[in-house]
Amino acid sequence: MNTEPDNKAGTILAFANQKGGVGKSTSVVNLAASLGLLGKKVLVVDSDPQGNTTSGFGVAKKDLTSSVYEMLIGQAEAASCVRSTRFQGISLIPAGISLAGAEFELILEERRETRLKEALLPIVPEYDFVLVDCPPSLGILTINALVAADSLVIPMQCEYYSLEGLTQLIYSIRQIKRRMNPSLTVAGILITMYNGRLNLSEQVMAELHKYYANKLFKTVISRNVTLSEAPSFGEPVWYYDRHSKGALQYMEVAKELLQRL
Ligand SMILES: Nc1ncnc2c1ncn2[C@@H]1O[C@H](COP(=O)(O)OP(=O)(O)OP(=O)(O)O)[C@@H](O)[C@H]1O
Ligand SMILES: [Mg+2]
Repeated sequence: MNTEPDNKAGTILAFANQKGGVGKSTSVVNLAASLGLLGKKVLVVDSDPQGNTTSGFGVAKKDLTSSVYEMLIGQAEAASCVRSTRFQGISLIPAGISLAGAEFELILEERRETRLKEALLPIVPEYDFVLVDCPPSLGILTINALVAADSLVIPMQCEYYSLEGLTQLIYSIRQIKRRMNPSLTVAGILITMYNGRLNLSEQVMAELHKYYANKLFKTVISRNVTLSEAPSFGEPVWYYDRHSKGALQYMEVAKELLQRL
């Protein structure tokens, strides 16, 4: 019998930042793909009605009948919403615009903050990692992700307003920890779309190092046009152009993540 301790099975990672367009979905798609290529079994849960992560994996988001929406309102079991993809190690629970309704429909429901956690519970042990993409708000979908998660990845741009947003996010995380998920940790802050030629980037990096040094991923994701092209081909950047800077940097972040958890 194998008595070696396994890596903790089924680590749930939420990717959250209430600020829009900071690279949450790009990071979910490409970190998931990298973890898959490193031999991990990964479930991606697209909990954003925009469905960018869904289309990032080449899945059409129109007319979905087994998606995060059906799972959250209790119309379908998680297992029946999972679909396989052509990418190594990756399964997906997709999202479409119907999920926008969940936000409203759940307002009056009981246990509305724990829907995702409870729905995923039976299937989480089948995976090494579950990556959850969140919408750009601190609404009920993000709260569900933070309640379900073991750990949080915060993608952010290197801009002054991002620092203000981060303060707000850290405050919200404290609230969630205190009231609903005491063991939630921050796996790391990931700088995206970095442009080292800007003085401002350097200043913001200096601030981040001052306050969050131990939380920052050492690898920074540069601004790289290949990363923005890959989704229109419905594939993670590694499959689109494995020699691109974006592909290599996200692979580095995946390795760092494995060391951190
Ligand atoms: N490193 C990068 N270099 C260049 N473009 C990028 C990079 N990362 C993301 N992008 C592009 O920036 C835009 C926003 O990224 P993305 O959709 O991942 O952000 P998001 O935080 O998920 O947005 P939202 O808050 O709307 O969900 C997209 O068009 C994406 O292709
Ligand atoms: Mg997104």
